[in-house]
Amino acid sequence: MANLFFIPNNIITGENAIRLSMDHITAFGKKALIVTDEAMVKFGNVKKLTDELDGVGIAYEIYPGINSEPTHSMIDAGAVIYKESGCDFLIGIGGGSPLDSMKAIAVVAANGGRITEYAGKKIEKDSPPTVAIPTTAGTGSEATKVSIITNTDTDVKMLLSDAKLMAKLAVVDPVFTLTVPPSVTAATGIDALTHAVEAFTSVKAFPMSDIFAESAVVKIFENIQACYTDGSNLSARQQMATAALEAGIAFSNASVTIVHGMSRPIGALFHVAHGQSNAMLLNVCLKFLKQGAVPQLCRLANGIGVYQDGMMPEEGADAFVNATLALLKTLDVKPIQAFGVSEEDFFRLIPKMADDALASGSPGNTRRVPTKDDLMGLYKELWSEGL
Ligand SMILES: NC(=O)c1ccc[n+]([C@@H]2O[C@H](COP(=O)([O-])OP(=O)(O)OC[C@H]3O[C@@H](n4cnc5c(N)ncnc54)[C@H](O)[C@@H]3O)[C@@H](O)[C@H]2O)c1
Ligand SMILES: [Fe+2]
Repeated sequence: MANLFFIPNNIITGENAIRLSMDHITAFGKKALIVTDEAMVKFGNVKKLTDELDGVGIAYEIYPGINSEPTHSMIDAGAVIYKESGCDFLIGIGGGSPLDSMKAIAVVAANGGRITEYAGKKIEKDSPPTVAIPTTAGTGSEATKVSIITNTDTDVKMLLSDAKLMAKLAVVDPVFTLTVPPSVTAATGIDALTHAVEAFTSVKAFPMSDIFAESAVVKIFENIQACYTDGSNLSARQQMATAALEAGIAFSNASVTIVHGMSRPIGALFHVAHGQSNAMLLNVCLKFLKQGAVPQLCRLANGIGVYQDGMMPEEGADAFVNATLALLKTLDVKPIQAFGVSEEDFFRLIPKMADDALASGSPGNTRRVPTKDDLMGLYKELWSEGL
């Protein structure tokens, strides 16, 4: 079977990547819409970018109106600002939320209408040039053809997936991630780990995606704790930034599976940050998906050094699952109850969450394909695990 492998046109990585990126950015247009959040303005990351843009004579308009879990109205408003301010390309700087928003605004700017019209639809026109500058090591959005935007009318996190959403240029400078606080370092790093494990065990995995997935898993096991305990460790931050990029490339090509499928409804309905909901779900989902993915998990056990000679494949897979669960324990993963979710609301919404998860298509990529009953059972287990 043949597979098409998608990545951005160019990827610049390493310290001072932003300066090197100017050689490319000057070819993209005359005025950029910078899509970001208020925290990026406060931390001075936007200023680092605008200083470089000033240096090469590129004009810009700053749209800092994004927050965690971006909504459809933020996207539609951004597209209006893009047009009214006469921009001809876009730069997203921030975590996955501003990057996803930047890619979605570009789609609306090129194709018209509102972002909610594009859920599950093929996007017709090419976006204007887009530049993605991540400041968290997590989503890999800088290198994915995915954008996740919440439709607040339906309380559904829309999964937009189309080659036209891929950024033209990804600029991955680990220096930006030095200011990420421990809780966000853990949540975003676990998001990247989830991308890599799901891509590696997905029914859509193929040799090119496996290379990136496996490499990301190894890097994350080796570096996530160092970043969590000492945020100023630049070499560990560099490894995590690369791992998140690799994990994004892996899942953008091979898809995510059950964890992300079940995670999005929790984010949309209870406003739990994406990495946090993935982290709590890994606990119950890894054991579920293992039955369909023993050889893959055994290979990952070998990669992270927990496979021992003479182990049967099943034992190897168990070794990987146990190592992952042990890692999560060191990263202060919170249970669902810690997010102010009431038992009554959670159980009432389990059927909707299971339906929305299945409708997203992600659970169908799992090697052990879950039914709606399986998903409802796993949501219930998630609740009881947290008690
Ligand atoms: N497009 C994709 O492929 C993809 C993949 C996974 C997740 N997502 C989506 O990405 C979003 C989550 O992205 P995220 O996890 O990066 O979180 P985020 O962008 O929401 O950021 C989380 C918090 O960290 C802060 N932050 C970001 N960078 C910082 C820095 N350098 N220093 C200090 N604080 C910083 C932000 O201001 C915010 O408060 C969700 O909407 C999720 O659904 C997208
Ligand atoms: Fe994710």
